[in-house]
Amino acid sequence: MPIVLAPARILKTKARRVGAEDRAKVAALVPHLFATMYHAPGIGLAAPQVGVGLAVTVIDLMPNEKPAPLVLINPKVVAASSELATREEGCLSLPGQYAEITRPAQVTVGYQDLEGEERRVEADGLLAACLQHEIDHLNGVLFIDHLSALKRNIILRRLAKERRQKETQPA
Ligand code: NI
Repeated sequence: MPIVLAPARILKTKARRVGAEDRAKVAALVPHLFATMYHAPGIGLAAPQVGVGLAVTVIDLMPNEKPAPLVLINPKVVAASSELATREEGCLSLPGQYAEITRPAQVTVGYQDLEGEERRVEADGLLAACLQHEIDHLNGVLFIDHLSALKRNIILRRLAKERRQKETQPA
């Protein structure tokens, strides 16, 4: 599936909560999310990034280069540490753009799995940042929204410029 790039409206729109009536649609969507994410390649992808406004995200940090796919439906941060951590983030919707983002170092996330079971994951390190980044997507928030307006605009202008250059390059 093509990845929606910033500044697209759907990336700024809160995703709709998945209900029982969406089960079949979500089951069909998830393999496409994984395929798109692995192809990119990336470690996380949220449904709005492929133009689907549903609260679904997939993550795979590939520990030891082995797949460890995680599907989170209606994910929510239920607890966050007061301790903060800063790491460099990027996003498939802002290709080639990176920035240092500060977030809670540890989080507990509640979500439903593909079978509709309530689950919880406690995370720190890269997974904690990735979970928060993906949940942000479902709330219409990009990592650049954690930066000052000045830094955010620099990144958006650079992205637009790089896209224009790419489009004018001969194939
Ligand atoms: Ni992202």
